[in-house]
Parts: sequence; structure tokens; C-alpha cells
Amino acid sequence: MRIIVGTFIVCFVALSAKAETGHELWLRHRGANPVKVVCSGESATLSLALHELRQGWQGEAGASVALEIRPDKSIKGDGYKLAASGVQANTELGILYGVYELLRRQQTLRPIQDEISNPSYERRVLNHWDNPDGSVERGYAGHSIFWRSGTDSLAVTEKDRALWQEYGRANASIGINGTVLNNVNASPETLSGESLIRVKAIADALRPYGVKTYLSVKFSSPSLLGGLKTSDPLDAQVVQWWKAKVKEIYSLIPDFGGFLVKANSEGQPGPQDYGRTHAQGANMMADALKPFGGIVMWRAFVYSSEDKDRARQAYSEFMPLDGQFRDNVIIQVKNGPIDFQPREPFSPLFGAMKKTSVMPELQITQEYLGHSIQLVYLAPMWEETLQSDTYQKGPGSTVARSTDGTLFPQKYSAIAGVANIGLDANWCGHHFAQANWYAFGRLAWNSGLTSDTIADEWIRLTFSPNQKETLNALKSGDWTKNFLTPVKEMMLRSREAAVNYMMPLGLHHIFAGTHHYGPGPWYAPKGMRPDWTPPYYHQADALGIGFDRTRAGSNAVDQYREPLASQFNDPATCPEIYLLWFHHLPWTYRMKSGRTLWDELCYRYESGVLQVRQFQKIWDRAEPYVDAQRFAEVQSKLRRHYRDAQIWKDACLLYFQQFNRLPIPYDIERPVNDLEDLMKIDLKWSHHN
Ligand code: GCU
Repeated sequence: MRIIVGTFIVCFVALSAKAETGHELWLRHRGANPVKVVCSGESATLSLALHELRQGWQGEAGASVALEIRPDKSIKGDGYKLAASGVQANTELGILYGVYELLRRQQTLRPIQDEISNPSYERRVLNHWDNPDGSVERGYAGHSIFWRSGTDSLAVTEKDRALWQEYGRANASIGINGTVLNNVNASPETLSGESLIRVKAIADALRPYGVKTYLSVKFSSPSLLGGLKTSDPLDAQVVQWWKAKVKEIYSLIPDFGGFLVKANSEGQPGPQDYGRTHAQGANMMADALKPFGGIVMWRAFVYSSEDKDRARQAYSEFMPLDGQFRDNVIIQVKNGPIDFQPREPFSPLFGAMKKTSVMPELQITQEYLGHSIQLVYLAPMWEETLQSDTYQKGPGSTVARSTDGTLFPQKYSAIAGVANIGLDANWCGHHFAQANWYAFGRLAWNSGLTSDTIADEWIRLTFSPNQKETLNALKSGDWTKNFLTPVKEMMLRSREAAVNYMMPLGLHHIFAGTHHYGPGPWYAPKGMRPDWTPPYYHQADALGIGFDRTRAGSNAVDQYREPLASQFNDPATCPEIYLLWFHHLPWTYRMKSGRTLWDELCYRYESGVLQVRQFQKIWDRAEPYVDAQRFAEVQSKLRRHYRDAQIWKDACLLYFQQFNRLPIPYDIERPVNDLEDLMKIDLKWSHHN
């Protein structure tokens, strides 16, 4: 009998969940109980809060909830005070955020206690790398939701507006309050009159959700768009051009957020083209924006082929400018010193620039972490960065505290995430990539949340059964044991698995050519800049492997504050996860495990691949608990994920073995691909990805 009942529940859960595309994200309709809401005001944002409560209330039927805007000094910015009886906030946006949290607690079966929640960062911003023709740089989820090509490309349709509203709602539900609508490799046309009309329409759609609009701008716009002879930031006409442009923007969008600028980076124009500094360039724009309350997010992603170590350059270039920036400039720094690799130590600029506002830039889109093909949950990586201790103001000076205004006075605090959003029905290309958008928002709101907590919430919101009846199955523990726990485990292990089958022990940037998906440790076309080729980073030779950044090498270690500098400098004390980032070591170097470096590398690659094999089993066992469509789509992606992890392992081990001529330990699985074949499919992959 028990077997029959058990089977019945499982079937019921499976059948009752309709096939679905994943478009609803973590905001699923679950039916609601009636609720009485008393609200202390009226506005577009408050109407949204009311609507959400009525649509989503899972508490007691007929309960009363008060939404009250009342100043309270312990509530900061758009924070809120939560109680079973309602939400209190200083701002209407605070009310909306509180309502989302209330509903989230109900849906995830967590208690609602009296508590205050204040945002860690004041500005929590998505960066879209979307081009005016609708393509998305490093986008793996279809075309842009904001831009498209064709003759009617700038016409705004009802469908556009509806999608932007859905996007605004998703962001508001996790506290994201800003969005940069276009690629950092910006086209000057973005600032044209016609384009700004479209930007205004987007801003209007997002405003009730509290999402401010920003634009990436090209530094040479005065010449390219305005027809001026120069774009020198100290030229009076150039200054005037920017002032007029900013005025035009604010006349359309009074709450416009400001500019994001990639200057003198990867061939983009910048102030150095005119013999000026980053500070002079950024300040000129900051002065134009200041009267309207706008800010400049100036990126520190700079490197040139001349310096012998790319990892040192942002620090070398920006540290001398500390204290020279206006207070409405924030320097936007990627989490690591190179470029969103599967693992990097934190950028030494965090905590080092003490007189300048600095904001972290994270990459949500999985440029270097398997695109939308591989299941990689990124919160553990971001948690690792945000909780890294910089020691810049004594122990406990984490990256988070060095950038959120706790340790250093900054007029504005902010954090950015490069979006993974496109027109795909499920928004992100992979159902599990939605978790990365979700996690970015949650961490930006509360940088102290753990990856585990965030994954737990996200799974419950995204996959728990829809119908009320099945909530009982949920509460019975069956769903938790057979779905939530293993799927969460899979997510939490997925980033380390990716590091292991791609680049363990501090290896970095050994990707194929330009697409950054597959392996290409051999990739070095004649005449290419060395710092754009993997051999520059892995430095493998007959004797050993790794980049020497010690005091005997490039001395990047000394950009870190003690005790880190000395710790990183010595292979015996350098954390093994960063070993080959900082050291060039013999293949026979003895690791903490007792294995040689080469054997350890082999084991790491092997363990990464085996983990993905495990993920396939975990997911197959979850089948009774997932709707058919999402189940099949994730299952199919995991198959390719496994095949490609295997390719990574085979390619890297067989390639490095050419240098050291050592055997792959006999107790691990043998490669199944030939190196010559793998080196040939490289190009094919670039077409597919
Ligand atoms: C990476 C990425 C580019 C991007 C650049 C940036 O190099 O591959 O596509 O433009 O970062 O962040 O500016």
C-alpha cells in the first residue's frame, strides 16, 4: 500500500507540473489566498507592491498586511523593516523590495520575523553587452532584449514594453536597481537623438520597478557623432558637447543613472590618446553629469602588450591616480586582475585605492565558464572574491567591506554584473544560468549571503511544485530529500568541477582562440600579441609550468598587502588553488597531497570530469520532480557538458604531456581523444559557439 501511495504522489507531482519554457524564472504563479492590504500612499511602484501581494499571498486567508512609508534611521536607502504584519520603509521602492522578500519567505517556507534588511551596495547594476544591431557580445541566450537590427529597429512595440516590464519585475524582485543598456565596446550612435528616444521608452518601462537606466559611451563620441575635430577632454568644445548631450539625456530621462566607460582598453579610444590621464577623462564627464546627480563608472580593465605581466597593469596605471577622481566617479574593477577566469585571486586594486570609490565588476554571462552549455553556478566564485581578505585596513578588510563604504568613505557604492540575458524563452540559455542572475542580485543586496542559502532559495522558487496540493508533498520531506538536496549539491560543486576540468591549481586563460569555450593551450597564431595567447599564461616547458609572479619574476605579488604578498610569494605558503597563478614550478614539485605537480594536475582534471558524470546521474534521478520540458533540456545540456569536460581533460593533459613526457597515473581513466583531432576541432567550435 505504501508503495502505491508513494508512486501516486510522485506521478501527481510530475503530471501536475505543466511543460514549461522557464520564462517565469523564479517568479511562479502559485495561486494566492485573499489578503487585505493597507497602504500608506499611492504611486506606480506602490501599485506594483499591492498587485504582487494580492497575486502571491500564501499566508493566512483574509490576513491584513500594512505597507507603510515611515522614516526610520535604522533603515538605510531602499532597505525595509519586515514583520508578519507588513513592511515599513523610507521609500516606496523599499516597500516593493520588502513585499518581494515577504512573498519569498512564504514560498520558501521560511519564517517571517521582525527584522531590518539594508542593501550592502547602494547601486546594484546589470551591464548588458548589447550592440545596436541586437547582437550581444559574449551573449549565449539569443539576441538583445533592448536592441534589434532592421528598418524598424528603433520603433517601440507593445511586445517590447511588455518584455521590458517583465525584466524590470525580475530585477526588482532581487533588488537590482540599475541597468546599462549597451555594450562597453560602445557605438557612438547610442547617443544619437533617435536612439535616445528608445532609451527613454526603456527607462519609462523600468522606472516603476526602481531600475535606473545607464549607458555605455564611447570616449570619442564628440568627434564621431558630433563632428568635432577632437575628443580631447580638456578642449572647451568637447566639454561643451558632453554638457549639451547630458542635458539632452536628462530632459528625456530625469532619473538617468550615468555613464559606463571603457577607455584606452582593448583598442577603445580614451583620454590617453590626447596625452591626458584616466582621471582627466573621467572627471570631464563627471562634471557634466554632476548637476543632474549622474555618476561615471570608469573601468580599470586596461592592459597593453608592452608590460611583461598583464596581471599587474590595472594596478600600475590606476594607483598613481588615487585621490584625483571626482566624488561621482567610481572605478569599476573586474573581480580578478586578468579577465573573469574560472578562478583568479582578487584584483589588488580592491582596498588599495583608499581615496577613490571602487566597485566590483562580476561576469554573470559565462564567457569563460561554459557559455550557456555548461551548468556552472557562479555564486561560490563571487562569494570567494567578496570574502577575500585584502588586509588593507587590517585583518577582516574583505573585498566586500573595501567596496561597500564600510572601510573607506565613498560617496557612492556600487556593484556590477555583466548580464546573461537575451531573447531566449528562458532568458539565459540554460535553465540553471537563471540562478546566476538571481545570485548576483541577492549578493548585491546582501553580500554576506552564502551560496548555499541562495541556491536553496532559488531551487525552491524555480522548481518547487505549483499546485497547493503538492505543497504537502513538499512539506513531507520527500521533495527536499530527493530533489532539493541533491540538486543543490550539484550546483554548489559545479564551479569547482569547472575549475578542475578546465584550469586547476591556478592555471588560467588557456582557452581556444577567440570564443573562450573550449581548450586551446596550444593556440598561438604567428604574429598574434603574446598576451592574447595561452602559452603566455601557462608557460609550460620541459622543466615545469606556471607564471612566475613572485619577487624573482614579475613581482605581481607585491601589489598585495602583507601578509598576502609574502604568502603568495612562497610556494610553500601560497594557497594551492593559486599555485600556478603565482609560480612556475617543476613538474615534479611535491604537492601537499604528496603527489607530484604533474600527477596532481592529472587527478584534478580527472575529478572535474567525473563530477560532471555525477551531475548527470543527479539530474536523471530528479526526473519525477521536474516538468518534462525543463528536465529534457537540462539533461541534454548535461550530456554535452560531460563530453566537453572530457575534451578539456584530454586536450590539456595530452598537450602538457608533450613537454614533460611523464605518464598519466595509471589509476585514472585514459584520454579518449587524440590531441591532433582536438587541435583541429578548435575552429569548428568557434562556429558553434
Ligand atoms: C573580455 C571579453 C570582451 C570584452 C572585454 C571587456 O576581454 O572577451 O568581449 O569586451 O572583456 O570586459 O571589456
